[in-house]
Amino acid sequence: MSIKSINWRGATCAVLAAALLTGIAGCTPVAVQGSSPPAGPIEAAAEPNWTSGGMVAAANPLAAEAGAEVLRAGGSAVDAAVAVQGVLSLVEPQSSGIGGGAFLVHYSAATGDVITYDGREVAPRGATADMFLDAGGKPLRFFDAVRSGRSVGVPGAVAMLELAHREHGRLPWRQLWRPGITLAETGFAVSPRLHEMITAVVARGSLPANSAAYLTLDGKTPRPVGSLLRNPDYAATLRRIAVQGAKALREGPIAEEIVSAVRADPMPGTLTLEDLRDYRPNRLEPVCSTYRVYLVCGMRPPSSGGVAVLSVLGILSHVDMAARGATTVAGWHYLIEAQRLAYADRDTYVADDRYEAVPIAGLLDRDYLASRAALVSPGRAMQRVEPGRPPGAQLRGRDATGGTTGTSHFVVVDGRGNVVSMTTTVESLFGSQRMAGGFFLNNQLTDFSFTPFDDKGQPIANAVAPGKKPRSSMSPTIVFRDGRFELAVGSPGGHAIIGYVAKSIVGMLDWGLTPQAAVDLPNVIARGLVVAETARMDPALIESLRAMGHEFRGGRSGGEASGIHAVRRLSDGRLEGAADSRREGKVVAVPYDSTR
Ligand code: GLY
Repeated sequence: MSIKSINWRGATCAVLAAALLTGIAGCTPVAVQGSSPPAGPIEAAAEPNWTSGGMVAAANPLAAEAGAEVLRAGGSAVDAAVAVQGVLSLVEPQSSGIGGGAFLVHYSAATGDVITYDGREVAPRGATADMFLDAGGKPLRFFDAVRSGRSVGVPGAVAMLELAHREHGRLPWRQLWRPGITLAETGFAVSPRLHEMITAVVARGSLPANSAAYLTLDGKTPRPVGSLLRNPDYAATLRRIAVQGAKALREGPIAEEIVSAVRADPMPGTLTLEDLRDYRPNRLEPVCSTYRVYLVCGMRPPSSGGVAVLSVLGILSHVDMAARGATTVAGWHYLIEAQRLAYADRDTYVADDRYEAVPIAGLLDRDYLASRAALVSPGRAMQRVEPGRPPGAQLRGRDATGGTTGTSHFVVVDGRGNVVSMTTTVESLFGSQRMAGGFFLNNQLTDFSFTPFDDKGQPIANAVAPGKKPRSSMSPTIVFRDGRFELAVGSPGGHAIIGYVAKSIVGMLDWGLTPQAAVDLPNVIARGLVVAETARMDPALIESLRAMGHEFRGGRSGGEASGIHAVRRLSDGRLEGAADSRREGKVVAVPYDSTR
């Protein structure tokens, strides 16, 4: 889809809708719901004179610096993304890595094209609908499944980056892995968060021998903060990837190591060399919708993220959120209710749409979302929230799976105005905890429903099947206004990602907050009960929401697992970034260089 094909000049949303639905050859229709028209006639701009410089916002300073180094060398946003992933996989291995999967939303300033890349893991041929059930037909305990070989999907992050680089890279592929190789060889200091996450997984039980040797001093004592950690195996793997590309993970010695790690006890998985060999990433149209004067674009299935964030916004488009600010009870009430409605639909209808008919257009249909918004009462929490029946939906059981916290999000804007918004994951902390080639293998398949039917016997859309991709909540997002890039945002956090991203967008666009202030807003996730960062909230606000009937669950599990990273382009053209203070991230600005 090209944002240049949209008549932004004085466009009403109906015109915008028509452009999106009919004007773009080969574009999968996207649903657009109503909102107020853009403010005044503004020429569509091709951004030929981009003078904003570049920016990287990522969850670890070493990774952000690696991306910035690539931008300084004249690299594209995708080039920088490769370097960021190469370093994150090393320094933040609890969250993402080359043994995992990712989604990337790309905006090309030259063409106006918005496209997404799908590097989601797939279930091996040997996967079965009952593989997460025990002999008695009961779901396995979650962490037993995580640590089993059955949880490991065919990794896709490197193959996805290779595809994106082929289409949008400027610097040679092999150059982009150098920061990761150098750091793996010379070593890096264990960060407080890495130490904390090692401590958390050690407390859960014994680790496989090679990951225990890597993460601990003696098999059980977590490596201390500040200690130097080297990873020569990972450096060797990156050297192969730098030369061979994603093929290095599809065949040969690293592929063989992956297979034997997956097939080891306890509960070996079925992954084969053929499964690895056959993996291909996808290039997909984004799912986009208008929100007030903006066009918001994200990932279509197998992620539920794009559809669910757009559902939240589509419901909120019936409310004047700007008049209800970030400190008001009404503002949070509507944000909570919109999430409850959007999660109910997302839990029920969204799965890998190569296997299930996902009613994307129905879920985002203007009239359907108006009917969902009409369920919200201004002064009282809804008593029960059920999934709706969007146009085109088949009856499906609701599925409560939603992922955990082993994910990372980063944003790159390059010196020509191209944008990458990428969310990348190994699923749980250190994925399955199984290592091969110096990196951790994902446990992404536990994002599938463990049971193929709900307790009423309805089939579950997100049930396991061979070759299928588990439903994700990852929501890398890019927002446009008047034919220009406006902002990019995303977060880790399992199913809560949808709430974190919606909150950040509302904070910036409706509540007029800076990116950092929007990211710093309390995280309030309403999938059933309200799970909130109560420590960041005014007690009087919580009391008022409780009095309206909202049931809170606060405390340590209060939605603090976000890692929201965002970049916004201000009205004067400057870029402003935000790194989530709940993690260790950093924003690095790369000044405009008129010689490039
Ligand atoms: N495993 C996190 C997600 O895909 O949403």
